[in-house]
Amino acid sequence: MSAFLPIKLSEHVWWVGAIDWTIRDFHGYTTKRGSTYNAYLIMADKITLVDTVKAPFKEELLARISALVDPKRIDYIVSNHSEMDHSGCLNDVIQVTRPEKVFASVMGCKALKEHFKIDAELTPVKDGDELSLGNLTLAFTETRMLHWPDSMFSYLKEEKFLFSQDAFGMHLATSERFIDEVPGPVVDYEAATYYANILLPYSPLILNLLDKVAKSGLPIDIIAPDHGPVWRKDLGRIVSLYRKWAEQKPANKAVVLYQTMWHSTEMMARAIEEGLREGGTDVKMMTIGPFHRSDVAYELLDAGALVAGSSTLNNNMLPAMADVLTYLKGLKPKNKIGAAFGSYGWSGESAGHVQEYLSAMKVDLVSEPLRAMYVPGEADLKRCFDLGRAISAKLAGVA
Ligand code: FEO
Repeated sequence: MSAFLPIKLSEHVWWVGAIDWTIRDFHGYTTKRGSTYNAYLIMADKITLVDTVKAPFKEELLARISALVDPKRIDYIVSNHSEMDHSGCLNDVIQVTRPEKVFASVMGCKALKEHFKIDAELTPVKDGDELSLGNLTLAFTETRMLHWPDSMFSYLKEEKFLFSQDAFGMHLATSERFIDEVPGPVVDYEAATYYANILLPYSPLILNLLDKVAKSGLPIDIIAPDHGPVWRKDLGRIVSLYRKWAEQKPANKAVVLYQTMWHSTEMMARAIEEGLREGGTDVKMMTIGPFHRSDVAYELLDAGALVAGSSTLNNNMLPAMADVLTYLKGLKPKNKIGAAFGSYGWSGESAGHVQEYLSAMKVDLVSEPLRAMYVPGEADLKRCFDLGRAISAKLAGVA
Protein backbone atom coordinates (compact mmCIF):
# COMPACT_ATOMS: atom_id res chain seq x y z
CA MET A 1 0.00 0.00 0.00
CA SER A 2 1.22 3.50 -0.87
CA ALA A 3 2.22 5.81 1.98
CA PHE A 4 0.35 8.52 0.11
CA LEU A 5 -3.38 8.28 -0.44
CA PRO A 6 -5.87 10.39 -2.38
CA ILE A 7 -8.60 12.20 -0.47
CA LYS A 8 -12.14 12.31 -1.80
CA LEU A 9 -13.54 15.84 -2.03
CA SER A 10 -16.78 15.29 -3.94
CA GLU A 11 -18.52 12.58 -5.92
CA HIS A 12 -15.97 12.72 -8.74
CA VAL A 13 -13.04 14.82 -7.50
CA TRP A 14 -10.06 13.60 -5.45
CA TRP A 15 -7.20 15.56 -3.96
CA VAL A 16 -3.91 14.06 -5.15
CA GLY A 17 -1.50 16.86 -4.25
CA ALA A 18 1.53 17.12 -1.98
CA ILE A 19 2.18 18.57 1.48
CA ASP A 20 5.35 20.59 2.00
CA TRP A 21 5.72 20.72 5.78
CA THR A 22 9.14 22.36 5.79
CA ILE A 23 9.13 25.20 3.27
CA ARG A 24 9.69 28.50 5.06
CA ASP A 25 10.58 30.83 2.18
CA PHE A 26 8.36 31.25 -0.83
CA HIS A 27 10.20 33.70 -3.08
CA GLY A 28 10.64 36.11 -0.20
CA TYR A 29 7.39 35.40 1.64
CA THR A 30 7.94 33.58 4.91
CA THR A 31 5.67 30.54 5.04
CA LYS A 32 5.67 29.79 8.75
CA ARG A 33 3.20 26.94 8.43
CA GLY A 34 4.57 25.37 5.24
CA SER A 35 2.36 24.86 2.19
CA THR A 36 0.62 22.37 -0.03
CA TYR A 37 0.71 21.99 -3.80
CA ASN A 38 -2.75 20.85 -4.71
CA ALA A 39 -3.56 18.71 -7.70
CA TYR A 40 -6.98 17.22 -8.36
CA LEU A 41 -8.10 14.13 -10.17
CA ILE A 42 -11.54 14.17 -11.76
CA MET A 43 -12.78 10.60 -12.08
CA ALA A 44 -14.98 11.28 -15.12
CA ASP A 45 -15.38 9.18 -18.27
CA LYS A 46 -12.30 11.08 -19.38
CA ILE A 47 -10.07 10.93 -16.30
CA THR A 48 -8.63 14.40 -15.88
CA LEU A 49 -5.78 15.70 -13.76
CA VAL A 50 -6.05 19.38 -12.82
CA ASP A 51 -2.59 20.83 -12.17
CA THR A 52 0.49 19.03 -10.92
CA VAL A 53 2.92 19.84 -8.09
CA LYS A 54 6.35 21.29 -7.41
CA ALA A 55 8.99 19.07 -9.04
CA PRO A 56 10.48 17.44 -5.88
CA PHE A 57 6.99 16.22 -4.95
CA LYS A 58 6.28 14.39 -8.21
CA GLU A 59 6.48 10.93 -6.61
CA GLU A 60 3.99 11.95 -3.92
CA LEU A 61 1.57 13.08 -6.62
CA LEU A 62 1.99 9.90 -8.64
CA ALA A 63 1.65 7.73 -5.52
CA ARG A 64 -1.65 9.37 -4.57
CA ILE A 65 -2.93 8.95 -8.13
CA SER A 66 -1.75 5.34 -8.28
CA ALA A 67 -3.67 4.49 -5.13
CA LEU A 68 -6.81 5.39 -7.07
CA VAL A 69 -6.09 4.57 -10.68
CA ASP A 70 -3.17 3.63 -12.92
CA PRO A 71 -1.68 7.03 -13.95
CA LYS A 72 -1.57 5.76 -17.55
CA ARG A 73 -5.36 5.85 -17.54
CA ILE A 74 -5.36 9.65 -17.25
CA ASP A 75 -6.88 11.03 -20.45
CA TYR A 76 -6.50 14.77 -19.96
CA ILE A 77 -4.30 17.11 -17.99
CA VAL A 78 -5.42 20.70 -17.38
CA SER A 79 -2.77 23.22 -16.35
CA ASN A 80 -4.40 26.24 -14.74
CA HIS A 81 -1.12 27.96 -13.93
CA SER A 82 2.41 27.55 -15.24
CA GLU A 83 4.38 28.65 -12.17
CA MET A 84 6.95 26.07 -11.00
CA ASP A 85 5.01 25.02 -7.91
CA HIS A 86 2.16 23.71 -10.08
CA SER A 87 3.84 22.81 -13.36
CA GLY A 88 7.41 22.02 -12.34
CA CYS A 89 6.89 18.30 -12.86
CA LEU A 90 4.35 18.57 -15.68
CA ASN A 91 6.78 17.36 -18.31
CA ASP A 92 7.63 14.27 -16.23
CA VAL A 93 3.97 13.59 -15.47
CA ILE A 94 3.17 13.79 -19.19
CA GLN A 95 5.94 11.26 -19.85
CA VAL A 96 4.47 8.87 -17.26
CA THR A 97 0.79 9.31 -18.07
CA ARG A 98 0.92 9.91 -21.83
CA PRO A 99 -2.44 11.73 -21.81
CA GLU A 100 -4.53 12.15 -24.89
CA LYS A 101 -4.48 15.93 -24.45
CA VAL A 102 -2.97 18.63 -22.25
CA PHE A 103 -4.96 21.86 -21.92
CA ALA A 104 -3.90 25.33 -20.81
CA SER A 105 -4.85 28.90 -21.62
CA VAL A 106 -3.33 30.43 -24.75
CA MET A 107 -0.74 32.21 -22.60
CA GLY A 108 -0.35 29.05 -20.54
CA CYS A 109 0.58 26.99 -23.60
CA LYS A 110 3.16 29.60 -24.52
CA ALA A 111 4.57 29.78 -20.99
CA LEU A 112 4.72 26.00 -20.57
CA LYS A 113 6.53 25.59 -23.88
CA GLU A 114 9.02 28.34 -23.11
CA HIS A 115 9.48 27.63 -19.42
CA PHE A 116 9.64 23.83 -19.39
CA LYS A 117 10.49 23.05 -23.03
CA ILE A 118 7.52 20.71 -23.14
CA ASP A 119 7.58 18.60 -26.28
CA ALA A 120 4.03 17.29 -25.99
CA GLU A 121 1.34 19.01 -27.97
CA LEU A 122 -0.60 21.49 -25.84
CA THR A 123 -4.19 22.44 -26.58
CA PRO A 124 -5.11 26.06 -25.86
CA VAL A 125 -8.50 26.89 -24.34
CA LYS A 126 -10.06 30.32 -24.26
CA ASP A 127 -12.31 32.19 -21.87
CA GLY A 128 -15.73 30.51 -21.93
CA ASP A 129 -14.59 27.33 -23.66
CA GLU A 130 -16.02 24.06 -22.42
CA LEU A 131 -14.48 20.61 -22.47
CA SER A 132 -16.56 17.46 -22.35
CA LEU A 133 -15.22 14.78 -20.04
CA GLY A 134 -17.96 12.43 -21.21
CA ASN A 135 -20.32 12.44 -18.26
CA LEU A 136 -19.01 15.75 -16.88
CA THR A 137 -18.06 19.16 -18.27
CA LEU A 138 -15.22 21.53 -17.51
CA ALA A 139 -15.56 25.23 -18.32
CA PHE A 140 -12.63 27.64 -18.43
CA THR A 141 -12.33 31.24 -17.33
CA GLU A 142 -9.18 33.19 -18.10
CA THR A 143 -7.88 35.10 -15.08
CA ARG A 144 -5.03 36.79 -16.85
CA MET A 145 -2.51 38.39 -14.46
CA LEU A 146 -4.12 36.70 -11.47
CA HIS A 147 -1.41 36.36 -10.88
CA TRP A 148 0.50 35.35 -14.04
CA PRO A 149 -0.48 36.01 -17.66
CA ASP A 150 -1.36 32.32 -18.09
CA SER A 151 -3.63 31.92 -15.06
CA MET A 152 -7.11 30.49 -15.50
CA PHE A 153 -9.92 28.90 -13.50
CA SER A 154 -11.53 25.57 -14.39
CA TYR A 155 -15.09 24.87 -13.32
CA LEU A 156 -16.70 21.44 -13.11
CA LYS A 157 -20.25 22.34 -14.00
CA GLU A 158 -22.14 19.30 -12.72
CA GLU A 159 -20.54 19.58 -9.27
CA LYS A 160 -20.37 23.40 -9.09
CA PHE A 161 -16.71 22.86 -8.30
CA LEU A 162 -14.25 25.67 -8.99
CA PHE A 163 -10.53 24.96 -9.41
CA SER A 164 -9.19 28.41 -8.63
CA GLN A 165 -5.40 27.88 -8.87
CA ASP A 166 -3.63 30.44 -6.63
CA ALA A 167 -6.77 32.47 -5.86
CA PHE A 168 -8.42 31.76 -2.50
CA GLY A 169 -5.36 29.77 -1.47
CA MET A 170 -3.06 29.97 1.50
CA HIS A 171 0.33 28.64 2.48
CA LEU A 172 -0.72 26.15 5.14
CA ALA A 173 0.61 22.62 5.47
CA THR A 174 -2.03 20.63 7.26
CA SER A 175 -3.47 17.14 7.34
CA GLU A 176 -6.95 18.61 7.00
CA ARG A 177 -8.15 19.03 3.46
CA PHE A 178 -11.13 21.28 4.15
CA ILE A 179 -11.00 24.82 5.50
CA ASP A 180 -13.83 24.14 7.98
CA GLU A 181 -11.63 21.54 9.70
CA VAL A 182 -8.92 24.13 10.46
CA PRO A 183 -9.18 26.62 13.38
CA GLY A 184 -10.79 29.86 12.17
CA PRO A 185 -8.04 32.26 13.34
CA VAL A 186 -5.43 30.22 11.45
CA VAL A 187 -7.55 30.35 8.29
CA ASP A 188 -8.17 34.09 8.60
CA TYR A 189 -4.51 34.88 9.24
CA GLU A 190 -3.11 32.67 6.49
CA ALA A 191 -5.70 33.73 3.89
CA ALA A 192 -4.99 37.42 4.57
CA THR A 193 -1.23 36.89 4.63
CA TYR A 194 -1.43 35.10 1.29
CA TYR A 195 -3.52 37.87 -0.22
CA ALA A 196 -1.19 40.58 1.12
CA ASN A 197 1.96 38.89 -0.13
CA ILE A 198 0.83 37.39 -3.44
CA LEU A 199 -2.33 38.98 -4.77
CA LEU A 200 -2.31 42.56 -3.51
CA PRO A 201 -0.70 44.07 -6.65
CA TYR A 202 -3.54 42.65 -8.73
CA SER A 203 -6.37 44.03 -6.62
CA PRO A 204 -8.05 46.02 -9.43
CA LEU A 205 -8.20 42.85 -11.56
CA ILE A 206 -9.58 40.89 -8.62
CA LEU A 207 -12.42 43.38 -8.23
CA ASN A 208 -13.21 42.99 -11.95
CA LEU A 209 -13.15 39.21 -11.64
CA LEU A 210 -15.39 39.20 -8.57
CA ASP A 211 -17.86 41.40 -10.45
CA LYS A 212 -17.70 39.13 -13.50
CA VAL A 213 -18.36 35.99 -11.44
CA ALA A 214 -21.16 37.70 -9.48
CA LYS A 215 -22.81 38.87 -12.71
CA SER A 216 -22.58 35.43 -14.28
CA GLY A 217 -24.61 33.98 -11.41
CA LEU A 218 -22.37 30.93 -11.58
CA PRO A 219 -23.33 28.60 -8.71
CA ILE A 220 -20.27 27.51 -6.74
CA ASP A 221 -20.37 24.89 -3.99
CA ILE A 222 -16.65 24.19 -3.65
CA ILE A 223 -13.57 26.32 -4.25
CA ALA A 224 -10.41 24.27 -4.61
CA PRO A 225 -7.25 26.39 -4.73
CA ASP A 226 -3.74 25.23 -5.53
CA HIS A 227 -2.46 25.91 -1.98
CA GLY A 228 -4.01 25.05 1.35
CA PRO A 229 -7.34 23.43 2.17
CA VAL A 230 -10.53 23.45 0.11
CA TRP A 231 -13.51 25.76 0.77
CA ARG A 232 -16.88 24.01 0.95
CA LYS A 233 -18.85 26.07 3.51
CA ASP A 234 -19.74 29.75 3.82
CA LEU A 235 -18.04 30.64 0.53
CA GLY A 236 -19.57 34.11 0.66
CA ARG A 237 -17.31 35.00 3.57
CA ILE A 238 -14.01 34.46 1.75
CA VAL A 239 -15.38 36.15 -1.36
CA SER A 240 -16.38 39.16 0.78
CA LEU A 241 -12.95 39.22 2.38
CA TYR A 242 -11.33 39.21 -1.08
CA ARG A 243 -13.49 42.17 -2.06
CA LYS A 244 -12.57 44.01 1.13
CA TRP A 245 -8.85 43.35 0.70
CA ALA A 246 -8.97 44.31 -2.97
CA GLU A 247 -10.75 47.59 -2.23
CA GLN A 248 -8.02 48.49 0.29
CA LYS A 249 -10.23 50.80 2.28
CA PRO A 250 -8.02 52.29 4.99
CA ALA A 251 -8.68 51.42 8.63
CA ASN A 252 -7.72 53.73 11.47
CA LYS A 253 -4.53 51.77 11.96
CA ALA A 254 -0.89 52.68 11.40
CA VAL A 255 2.15 50.53 10.79
CA VAL A 256 5.28 52.13 12.25
CA LEU A 257 8.08 50.35 10.46
CA TYR A 258 11.62 51.10 11.56
CA GLN A 259 15.18 49.90 11.79
CA THR A 260 17.49 51.41 14.36
CA MET A 261 21.25 51.36 14.87
CA TRP A 262 21.77 52.74 18.40
CA HIS A 263 18.11 53.16 19.47
CA SER A 264 17.75 56.80 18.40
CA THR A 265 15.43 55.96 15.50
CA GLU A 266 13.63 53.63 17.87
CA MET A 267 13.08 56.53 20.29
CA MET A 268 11.59 58.51 17.41
CA ALA A 269 9.36 55.58 16.49
CA ARG A 270 8.10 55.29 20.07
CA ALA A 271 7.27 59.01 20.21
CA ILE A 272 5.39 58.72 16.89
CA GLU A 273 3.56 55.71 18.31
CA GLU A 274 2.49 57.75 21.35
CA GLY A 275 1.17 60.52 19.12
CA LEU A 276 -0.78 58.07 16.99
CA ARG A 277 -2.30 56.36 20.02
CA GLU A 278 -3.15 59.67 21.61
CA GLY A 279 -5.00 60.50 18.41
CA GLY A 280 -7.02 57.29 18.61
CA THR A 281 -5.20 55.26 15.97
CA ASP A 282 -4.34 51.58 16.42
CA VAL A 283 -0.61 51.14 16.00
CA LYS A 284 1.46 48.16 14.98
CA MET A 285 5.12 48.72 15.86
CA MET A 286 7.31 46.68 13.54
CA THR A 287 11.06 46.62 13.72
CA ILE A 288 12.77 44.44 11.18
CA GLY A 289 14.23 41.26 12.57
CA PRO A 290 11.46 40.29 14.98
CA PHE A 291 9.15 41.01 12.05
CA HIS A 292 9.70 39.66 8.56
CA ARG A 293 8.84 41.58 5.40
CA SER A 294 5.79 39.39 4.86
CA ASP A 295 4.55 40.15 8.40
CA VAL A 296 4.72 43.82 7.48
CA ALA A 297 2.76 43.18 4.27
CA TYR A 298 0.08 41.40 6.34
CA GLU A 299 -0.28 44.26 8.82
CA LEU A 300 -0.28 46.84 6.06
CA LEU A 301 -3.20 45.14 4.29
CA ASP A 302 -5.83 47.05 6.27
CA ALA A 303 -3.68 49.86 7.72
CA GLY A 304 -4.40 53.41 6.60
CA ALA A 305 -0.94 54.71 7.44
CA LEU A 306 2.65 53.67 6.92
CA VAL A 307 5.26 55.59 8.92
CA ALA A 308 8.74 54.38 8.11
CA GLY A 309 12.12 55.27 9.56
CA SER A 310 15.75 54.25 9.52
CA SER A 311 19.05 55.38 10.96
CA THR A 312 21.62 56.55 8.43
CA LEU A 313 24.48 54.18 7.67
CA ASN A 314 27.14 55.08 5.10
CA ASN A 315 24.87 57.71 3.53
CA ASN A 316 22.03 55.21 3.17
CA MET A 317 19.20 53.72 5.13
CA LEU A 318 19.99 50.47 6.95
CA PRO A 319 20.04 47.58 4.47
CA ALA A 320 17.23 45.57 6.08
CA MET A 321 14.96 48.59 5.72
CA ALA A 322 15.72 48.83 2.00
CA ASP A 323 14.84 45.14 1.71
CA VAL A 324 11.41 45.59 3.25
CA LEU A 325 10.61 48.82 1.42
CA THR A 326 11.60 47.28 -1.92
CA TYR A 327 9.28 44.35 -1.19
CA LEU A 328 6.39 46.60 -0.13
CA LYS A 329 6.80 48.83 -3.19
CA GLY A 330 6.41 45.79 -5.42
CA LEU A 331 3.14 44.92 -3.71
CA LYS A 332 1.69 48.29 -4.75
CA PRO A 333 -0.35 49.03 -1.62
CA LYS A 334 -2.95 51.76 -2.10
CA ASN A 335 -4.69 54.43 -0.03
CA LYS A 336 -2.00 54.99 2.60
CA ILE A 337 -0.93 58.17 4.30
CA GLY A 338 2.37 58.43 6.12
CA ALA A 339 5.78 59.99 6.60
CA ALA A 340 9.47 59.13 6.80
CA PHE A 341 11.80 59.66 9.72
CA GLY A 342 15.25 58.72 10.94
CA SER A 343 18.21 59.59 13.12
CA TYR A 344 21.73 60.33 11.94
CA GLY A 345 25.16 61.47 13.03
CA TRP A 346 26.40 63.87 10.38
CA SER A 347 25.00 63.29 6.88
CA GLY A 348 21.39 62.12 7.48
CA GLU A 349 20.29 60.79 4.09
CA SER A 350 18.20 57.87 5.36
CA ALA A 351 14.90 59.65 6.03
CA GLY A 352 15.00 61.18 2.54
CA HIS A 353 15.69 57.80 0.98
CA VAL A 354 12.83 56.23 2.93
CA GLN A 355 10.58 59.01 1.71
CA GLU A 356 11.52 58.22 -1.90
CA TYR A 357 10.13 54.72 -1.40
CA LEU A 358 6.98 56.06 0.20
CA SER A 359 6.52 58.49 -2.69
CA ALA A 360 6.98 55.64 -5.17
CA MET A 361 4.19 53.84 -3.31
CA LYS A 362 2.05 56.96 -3.70
CA VAL A 363 1.78 57.33 0.06
CA ASP A 364 0.11 60.64 0.88
CA LEU A 365 2.88 62.29 2.89
CA VAL A 366 1.86 64.50 5.76
CA SER A 367 5.29 66.10 6.22
CA GLU A 368 8.82 66.39 4.99
CA PRO A 369 11.16 63.66 6.30
CA LEU A 370 11.64 64.07 10.04
CA ARG A 371 15.26 63.87 11.17
CA ALA A 372 16.98 63.87 14.56
CA MET A 373 20.74 64.25 15.03
CA TYR A 374 22.51 61.71 17.23
CA VAL A 375 20.16 61.07 20.16
CA PRO A 376 16.77 62.81 19.89
CA GLY A 377 16.16 65.40 22.58
CA GLU A 378 12.90 66.64 24.05
CA ALA A 379 12.20 68.94 21.09
CA ASP A 380 12.86 66.16 18.59
CA LEU A 381 10.59 63.75 20.43
CA LYS A 382 7.87 66.40 20.60
CA ARG A 383 8.11 66.77 16.79
CA CYS A 384 7.77 62.99 16.47
CA PHE A 385 4.78 62.93 18.81
CA ASP A 386 3.19 65.76 16.81
CA LEU A 387 3.83 63.87 13.59
CA GLY A 388 1.95 60.90 15.05
CA ARG A 389 -0.91 63.19 16.02
CA ALA A 390 -0.99 64.78 12.56
CA ILE A 391 -1.14 61.39 10.85
CA SER A 392 -3.83 60.25 13.24
CA ALA A 393 -5.90 63.38 12.59
CA LYS A 394 -5.63 62.91 8.82
CA LEU A 395 -6.43 59.22 9.10
CA ALA A 396 -9.53 59.94 11.14
CA GLY A 397 -10.84 61.90 8.15
CA VAL A 398 -10.53 58.98 5.73
CA ALA A 399 -10.76 55.79 7.81
FE1 FEO B 1 1.27 28.84 -6.45
FE2 FEO B 1 1.60 31.34 -8.68
O1 FEO B 1 1.95 29.68 -7.93
